[in-house]
Amino acid sequence: MSEVMSAMLSCKHLWKVFGATDKEFASLSEDEKNNAEALKARGWVAAVRDANFDIQRGEVFVIMGLSGSGKSTMVRCLSRLIEPTTGSVFIDGQNLLKANSKELIALRRRLMSMVFQHFALLPNRNLLTNIAFPLEIHGVARTEREARARELIDLVGLSGREEHYPNELSGGQQQRVGIARSLASDPAVWFLDEPFSALDPLIRADLQDELLKLQTQLQKTIIFITHDLDEAIKIADRIAIMQDGEIVQIGTPDELVLQPKTDYVKRFVRDVPIAKVIKVKSLTSPLAHNIDIVHSPYVNSEQSVEEIAKIVIGNQKPVVVQNPTGEVIGMVKPEAVAEVLAGIR
Ligand SMILES: Nc1ncnc2c1ncn2[C@@H]1O[C@H](COP(=O)(O)OP(=O)(O)OP(=O)(O)O)[C@@H](O)[C@H]1O
Ligand SMILES: [Mg+2]
Repeated sequence: MSEVMSAMLSCKHLWKVFGATDKEFASLSEDEKNNAEALKARGWVAAVRDANFDIQRGEVFVIMGLSGSGKSTMVRCLSRLIEPTTGSVFIDGQNLLKANSKELIALRRRLMSMVFQHFALLPNRNLLTNIAFPLEIHGVARTEREARARELIDLVGLSGREEHYPNELSGGQQQRVGIARSLASDPAVWFLDEPFSALDPLIRADLQDELLKLQTQLQKTIIFITHDLDEAIKIADRIAIMQDGEIVQIGTPDELVLQPKTDYVKRFVRDVPIAKVIKVKSLTSPLAHNIDIVHSPYVNSEQSVEEIAKIVIGNQKPVVVQNPTGEVIGMVKPEAVAEVLAGIR
């Protein structure tokens, strides 16, 4: 199977140039297309410039960049809420940009869902019927859609509030309802454009934890936009950094922090403590035969060095490492953790 077919979402040579018709843009030479000043001189805004990436099934792909760098335009093109100027987008092997309007509606229903920073709940409906609303539109029978809505209310921790109205909820709770509603149709690809940006930091951290918990259960393919690097590092498998419409680097959080390719990326990541992005798995060594795996403390290979530092350094001896399914995969030595904390590694 080709890369395009196996990835859940694949975009190739994707451009969105506001102000230009497809034909006008196509008439330019490659040099002209890649000359930002020349495009600007025509009064055009190249909000997405030649984006190429594949997102795997179950991956959390975060898009970061300064305001105006093209993040929202990118997700709108990937979901075809706006028409890209040129390029291709495949979702689950289907050519999104070739779909006619009927096919597009069917594709969206079957595969996609979106959450935005400012989205509207219906004020005159309670939680249950707000969450069931997308299913109602899809013609799902009442008992079925309300049963699904109850499941989702439980999933986002709002059980008991089914009959409440949106104005009786806090901002964080409303955001949970928005998340539940966007999951009602069980989308394969979940687009979230700054869903937590309007919330205060503690609520925001709770919702990030909630999202991670949901993701271990649901295994969606997630495209998540944020301004906040800590948020990105916490939830991303990979992060794409955008600058003036261009993706300047794509990598895992530790790749970006340890090997930033440009000064712009460097500026983004310079304040991130390395211990926050290095995972236990990259410090794991084979288990020595004299380690007492019954009495040793355990750490998880997916945790950050920062999270496990106290346990490992406090233990003085190497600590056993398990993978997320509970299998013992090796050990981590206190010296290795100390080296990361000291910035030697
Ligand atoms: N409909 C439009 N017509 C013309 N220009 C637009 C349109 N929508 C966006 N732009 C321009 O495209 C560029 C990218 O905008 P976009 O909203 O994608 O940025 P963003 O990275 O999401 O920013 P923010 O972090 O502020 O949400 C900006 O220069 C913006 O002014
Ligand atoms: Mg935006």
